[in-house]
Amino acid sequence: MTKIIVPRSILLIFLILSFTTVFAQKTSVKNIESRVETLLTKMTLDEKIGQLNQVVGDISTGTDLAKDDLIAQIRANKVSSVLSHVNFENKITMQRVAVNETRLGIPLVFGFDVIHGYKTIFPIPLAQAASWDMGLVERIERIAAEEASADGQNWVFAPMVDVGRDPRWGRVMEGAGEDPYLGSRVGEARIRGFQGDDLSANNTVAACTKHFAGYGFIEAGREYNTVDMSDQRLREIVLPPFQAAANAGSATFMNAFTTLNGVPASMNKNLITNILRGEWAWNGMIVSDWNSFGETIIHGAAEDETDASAKCLSAGSDMDMVGGTFQKGLKKALEAGRVTQAQIDEAVRRVLRFKFSLGLFDDPFRYLNQKRHDTTLEKPEYRVVAREAAAKSMVLLKNDGGLLPLTAGSRFKKIAIIGPYADSKGNKDYLSFWTIGLGMREYDSTKVVRPAQALKPALEKLGYEVTVTETCLDSTCTEKDYAAAINAARAADVVIVCVGERGFDCGESRSVSSLELPRKQDQLLNILGRLKKPTVMVLFNSRPLVFEWASQNIPAILVAWQPGFETGNALADVLTGKVNPSGKLPMTFPRSLGQVPIYYNHLNTGRPQTQYGQIFTSGYLDSPTSPAYPFGFGLSYTAYTYSNLKLSKTQYKMGETVEVSVTVTNSGSLPGEETVQCYTRDLAADIARPVKELKGFEKIKLNAGESRGVTFRLSEHDLSYWNNELKWKADPGKFKVFVGGNSVEVMEGEFELAR
Ligand code: NOJ
Repeated sequence: MTKIIVPRSILLIFLILSFTTVFAQKTSVKNIESRVETLLTKMTLDEKIGQLNQVVGDISTGTDLAKDDLIAQIRANKVSSVLSHVNFENKITMQRVAVNETRLGIPLVFGFDVIHGYKTIFPIPLAQAASWDMGLVERIERIAAEEASADGQNWVFAPMVDVGRDPRWGRVMEGAGEDPYLGSRVGEARIRGFQGDDLSANNTVAACTKHFAGYGFIEAGREYNTVDMSDQRLREIVLPPFQAAANAGSATFMNAFTTLNGVPASMNKNLITNILRGEWAWNGMIVSDWNSFGETIIHGAAEDETDASAKCLSAGSDMDMVGGTFQKGLKKALEAGRVTQAQIDEAVRRVLRFKFSLGLFDDPFRYLNQKRHDTTLEKPEYRVVAREAAAKSMVLLKNDGGLLPLTAGSRFKKIAIIGPYADSKGNKDYLSFWTIGLGMREYDSTKVVRPAQALKPALEKLGYEVTVTETCLDSTCTEKDYAAAINAARAADVVIVCVGERGFDCGESRSVSSLELPRKQDQLLNILGRLKKPTVMVLFNSRPLVFEWASQNIPAILVAWQPGFETGNALADVLTGKVNPSGKLPMTFPRSLGQVPIYYNHLNTGRPQTQYGQIFTSGYLDSPTSPAYPFGFGLSYTAYTYSNLKLSKTQYKMGETVEVSVTVTNSGSLPGEETVQCYTRDLAADIARPVKELKGFEKIKLNAGESRGVTFRLSEHDLSYWNNELKWKADPGKFKVFVGGNSVEVMEGEFELAR
């Protein structure tokens, strides 16, 4: 290694410079409040209302709404923020107009949906959650922030922390799955990655935690549908990840589109003012979702824009995304005495504070530096993380007879790679709708490493003969259309069949009414099954899907999700054993749509079914109640054994920490990573409690033969719940504690919480 010697004088200058920068930043943070107040006194009412308005840029991610000339609007003081604008040079022009051609020169803030990467695309968020690796999730968002900020974006509409229990809802791909604890940890990691520890730095972006709140519980999984739930469910399942995000310092929040118990989220005072700003003491800025202020009228909860403006502002919402409702109605609402000047000022204050905290007033072009732009996007090292993330998020559901990994010196010689997603160039395949940083439909699809593209050479290097055969994808495909693929399979010793969902079908407004493999891909699997060849099914999906036949008949199944740019490389790494799979499901996979919603942390009911077929118990006549694959489940090429579950005591007093420890041994022959999960059950509380609740997890590395102790520490809060008196409280009495590698196969212990 060469050593670079820096002269002391240069070091001194550097030290002084860095001190002054840090000092300058600290000073400006300290001065934010007084600068906001000074600016506020100079603003006219129209300028204030303009600061509450966000308009759409060059990509539309929602319902089409009339678009005026952007520059003219900015010049007229009507724009505070622009969302979904890709073109870099245009952003510079817009910022110049805002800063130089408006009376007060208030800079614009640029917002963007950075859902799983900006220019370098990572696995979908649900897949990232399946890695259970929070350090990795943070690294992903750090890169996303580097890229987005270098391209002029200051604010990302992520993380989505909506808990989702219904795979029909296309947006489960955007969250962390069904569990509030895992969802909280993932949300925090994403916020840390985006925001770093200095929001005003030119390589960090503000997070926007969404959708506040309840959206994940839309009825029947139908997009934008009604949400109705008990206070218990709201407090225990829906809100914890939002609270964790607020505590983690999420700069902004976004309203949900949906109603909650009849009240549209954007005008839900209980949610915004009482809970978010009151109980949680969060003081950031909250933006509507796309025209969600305007949609209060369509919901039938506001009469017109004036009424909608009054209701949304009074509830505590601040900025109007796209709909122009405040532009049309807020002044009238003030004139009619429906809102006060003080309320408007408070919202404007939050917006200005937000812009100050991003450093935009100190340098409006901080994020619009051409050199940084030209040198920061799509660095090769980002790909390394994308590959690691994709491989680490894949979940091995089945591996009968140790069919995988496909290594050198195998008894098999010929491999056929088939299936519609073996080598697809379809729009956004292996990505998702939410990769708009690449463009909506027009993008360079060669950036995606397709499965066969990487898998074929990787397997050939190990000595296999490999064929890749295009396979029909349509509900009209017949046995004849599959002929080439089936023939290739027939001629091979092992078949890798790639099935799943189209990339563009993953994301917002992508609800489905069936969870079967789309476009009758089951038919292909059935025909393939007749060959009785060792087969590996690779699933590209954005949600839990139903594939009972495959579960019973195909020996190896790998959930690859939508893995992003490094799809093929990551898949090759996992299938050849270069990476030992360690992903675990963040969402239950049902056996059939009829079981939905199905989730691990359900109540016991008064008549739990213990065996399929029992009558007068809570079950189905035509299906077991158990899922196809439970929450937290995922196999490895090695095996782990759990032993020695110990509690530090069997009786605890309120306020004491419950210590649970276990020994985990890698009892197989390969090194690997295991996510050790800890669940509890309150056996007799004042209200019925879930059969299991995740309270902690730790992902550990173990060499073959190695053992390690893992300890979980549970606080009184971990044992508490939202009781009938609307308070968090732990009840005295017996608890069970479970530790294991998934939510079903666990060791268990018991303790008592004394009064
Ligand atoms: C609507 C979506 O619900 C939200 O998540 C997104 O951030 C906005 N549109 C902006 O695209």
